[in-house]
Amino acid sequence: MAQLNPFVFNRPVSAEDLIDRDRETVQMLRLVEGGHAVRLSAPRRYGKTSLLRRLGDEAEMAGMNYVEVDFYGVLSRLDVAGRLEDAYETLRPGPQRIARAVIQTLRPAVSVGAAGVRLESRPQPEERLGRRLMGLLDLPVQLYERTGRRTLVAFDEFQALLAVDPGIDGLFRSRIQRHGEAASYVFAGSHPGLMAQLFGAHERPFFGQARSLPLEPLPNSDIVEHVGKRFAATGREVGPAIEPLLDLAAGHPQRAMLLAHHLWERTPDQGVAEAEHWQAALRDTFAEQDDALRATWDALEVKERAVFTALATGEPVFGARTLERFNLSKGGAQHAREALAHAGHIRRLDDVWRPVDPLLARWVIEFQHNGGKDLH
Ligand SMILES: Nc1ncnc2c1ncn2[C@@H]1O[C@H](COP(=O)(O)OP(=O)(O)OP(=O)(O)O)[C@@H](O)[C@H]1O
Ligand SMILES: [Mg+2]
Repeated sequence: MAQLNPFVFNRPVSAEDLIDRDRETVQMLRLVEGGHAVRLSAPRRYGKTSLLRRLGDEAEMAGMNYVEVDFYGVLSRLDVAGRLEDAYETLRPGPQRIARAVIQTLRPAVSVGAAGVRLESRPQPEERLGRRLMGLLDLPVQLYERTGRRTLVAFDEFQALLAVDPGIDGLFRSRIQRHGEAASYVFAGSHPGLMAQLFGAHERPFFGQARSLPLEPLPNSDIVEHVGKRFAATGREVGPAIEPLLDLAAGHPQRAMLLAHHLWERTPDQGVAEAEHWQAALRDTFAEQDDALRATWDALEVKERAVFTALATGEPVFGARTLERFNLSKGGAQHAREALAHAGHIRRLDDVWRPVDPLLARWVIEFQHNGGKDLH
């Protein structure tokens, strides 16, 4: 029977596919069981949602309810209400019935027209929507009163709320700070600048309100073990190709899985992944990712591209040669570095600023060497 590729790279993965992160799971579970709030900040595609799901499973096993709200792309308070309602749909049947009943009472009234036609009530005034949101945010209290169980609420892509309106984090805080025994909260987000704005700015309601848990790159030893096992379980051997894979992935979880996926695809059934298979996998990866990498690159300011290039090639950003090469002032370079960090394109690890996405970094290096010509 043909084997299926065991490396998932384009959606949150289940606990058995999650490399490492045991320490983070245990730490978060302890905190939320104790009623503390946690802020899970990590770059894009670092496994935040996967980790939330694992935490959710463990929280349920420990007797809590688990609710995961995804705020990605929310634009209005009405959207926020919809996302909260959707999240309670995934509860287990018992608490779900309770939540549904409460949600029903919060929905805009539906009146019956003269001919028996159902008429949605006219768009609700702000105040009604505000009350509905408060009711939805307070759902854990109702669940606690009825089930005696604490609810763990995970707000994924929490920073997206900032796009809704400037007061919405105040509304959230004003409700959830009363939840005491009833709920614990995890706030996950990938945009460092916006997360810092929500939790790090004195004037904002969530200032200093949650324990911060960063996600570090994965250790190479764990990646080797995971990739080796998955190859072996599907009749292949990873062989010498693991070295360049580790070098390129630099501990980035999704990039490591993406590269492993392509490498597996290129390795013959019952065969060993050799250098030639790695080269083919690399070409496949870049061919597939080219549009996305280019779009990211094109969205950067010219000075940001210069600083990113310097960091990707390991040149000192403020060195005289770098500044001259890119026609940058020190102030300009500083500003561009801050903008890159704010948007999550670079991050400081072991006191060194590094590109977050190793594929983008490699793409940029190759691009430079090709004198701006296409890679393929
Ligand atoms: N610890 C891990 N072990 C194995 N794979 C991982 C791990 N963390 C992330 N991944 C890989 O990254 C991919 C994306 O994971 P996930 O969606 O959980 O990340 P995310 O941080 O929520 O991403 P986004 O920023 O896009 O929301 C997964 O499909 C998987 O390939
Ligand atoms: Mg996610």
